[in-house]
Amino acid sequence: MPDDHTPSAPAKMPSALIAARPAAPLAGVAAVPGDKSISHRALMLGALAVGRTEIKGLLEGEDVLATAAALRAMGAGIVRAEDGRWLVDGVGLGGLAEPDDVIDLGNSGTAARLLLGVLASHPFTAFVTGDASLRRRPMGRVITPLSRFGAQFRGREGGRLPLAVTGASNPIPIVYQLPVPSAQVKSAVLLAGLNTPGATTVVEPQATRDHTERMLGHFGAKIIVEAEPGVGKRITVEGQPELIAAPITVPGDPSSAAFPLVAALIVPGSDVTIANVGLNPSRTGLLLCLQEMGADIALENRREAGGEPVADLRVRAGPLKGADIPASRAPSMIDEYPILAVAAACARGRTVMRGLAELRVKESDRLAGIAEGLARCGVRVTVEGDDLIVEGADHAPAGGAMIETQLDHRIAMAFLVLGLAADQPVRIDDARPIATSFPDFVPLMARLGAVFREEA
Ligand code: S3P
Repeated sequence: MPDDHTPSAPAKMPSALIAARPAAPLAGVAAVPGDKSISHRALMLGALAVGRTEIKGLLEGEDVLATAAALRAMGAGIVRAEDGRWLVDGVGLGGLAEPDDVIDLGNSGTAARLLLGVLASHPFTAFVTGDASLRRRPMGRVITPLSRFGAQFRGREGGRLPLAVTGASNPIPIVYQLPVPSAQVKSAVLLAGLNTPGATTVVEPQATRDHTERMLGHFGAKIIVEAEPGVGKRITVEGQPELIAAPITVPGDPSSAAFPLVAALIVPGSDVTIANVGLNPSRTGLLLCLQEMGADIALENRREAGGEPVADLRVRAGPLKGADIPASRAPSMIDEYPILAVAAACARGRTVMRGLAELRVKESDRLAGIAEGLARCGVRVTVEGDDLIVEGADHAPAGGAMIETQLDHRIAMAFLVLGLAADQPVRIDDARPIATSFPDFVPLMARLGAVFREEA
C-alpha cells in the first residue's frame, strides 16, 4: 500500500559531527539523490495538473517533503508508492483549496517563493511560515511582482515570514524584468501567470536555471522563450492552459553531487564515480570552474533522463590551481560556492569568486559563513565587496576548527568535506540541516570511505 508521505526510514542526522582525514583514498560508485529544484516543481505542477503524475527519483529531503505536505493541505493527493515512485493526483489548475492551518515550509526558500507564486492566483487566504532561517530570508522579491497580479500580502517587516497571502480572484497578467538573477522569482511569476488569463512574461537579463520552463512545457503549457540581444531572455507563459499530468524522472542533483565530487578531488589518491548527475547547462558552472582549476573529471555515459541531460562523473584526485571565476557564472553555480571555496582552499594560488551578493540571502549569509569558516581552518581568505578571495597554499589547510552551520545544509557539508583533507579534524556544530537536501549524505560518504564521527 502507498503511504501518505513518509519516505522509508529517513537517515537520522546527528547534531555535531567531526570529519578527519580518512586512512585510505575515497573509492567507489555513489548515486546522489534527486534534484531538489526539479522535485519541488514536479510536485507543484503535478498538483495543478489534471490526472495522476508519476515521479521517479523524487528527492525525499525535508524541503521537498514540506512542499508535498503543503500541497496535500490544499487538496492534492500525494502518496509514495512502495517501489519509491511518488504519485500525485492533481486538482486541476485553479483547483487548490484554502488550507485549514498555517503552512510550514521549514528551511525551504524554493518551496516558499514558488508556492507564493501559485497562491497569488488562487482566491483564498493562506498563512505561510518556516524555520528561523527561512523567516529571516527576503520575500519582498516575490511580493513585489505577485502584488501586481492583484494578490495581497501581510508580512513582517521587510516582507518576511510568517505572512498571509490572499490570492487575486481576477488576476492580471504582468511583464516583469527580474531585478536579481533568481530562478525562484522567475518561477514564482510564471506559476502565478499559469492561472491568470492572458500572457505573463518574465524578462531575465542573466540566465538562471530553467527547470520551471522545461517542466511547464512537459505538462502541456504553452511557453515561449525568446533571446533578445542586450536584453536577455523573454519567457512568456500563456495563462490557463490545459495542464495534463505527465511522468517525470528526476535526475541526480548536481548541487548535491558537488560534495562527494570535491571530496574525491582533494583526498589524495581518490577515484570516485558519481552516477546519474543532472547536467542541465544552467547548473554546470561548478564543473567548468573545477576543470579550469585542473580537476580530472570525466563525463561518462552521457544521456537524457526526464528531458534533462545526465552523465556519470568519474573524478580522480590531483593538484588544483587557483582560478578567476567571473560574476556572470554565478547563476549557474549559485549553491556551489561553499564547496568551490573548499576546493580553492586546497588549490595552489589565488581563487577569486566574483559577484556573490546573492550568497548573503541564502539559508545563511553564506559569504560571511564561508569566509569565517575558512579563516578558522587556517585559510587566508578575504571578502572585498561582493567578491570572495581564497589564497590556496598548495598544502592541506590546518583545520582543527569548530564551524557553526547556522541552519545551512551546504555550509555543513562543505566543511565536513574540508575536514577530510585538513591536517586536523573539523567539527560542525549541527549536521541536522543536511537532511533538507541530502538525507543520505553521511552513509553515502561512508560508503566511499569518509567516516564522519559523532561526538562522544
Ligand atoms: C533554486 C534557485 C536558487 C537556488 C536554490 C534553488 C530553485 O535560488 O539557490 O537552492 O529551485 O529555483 P535563487 O533563485 O534565489 O537564486
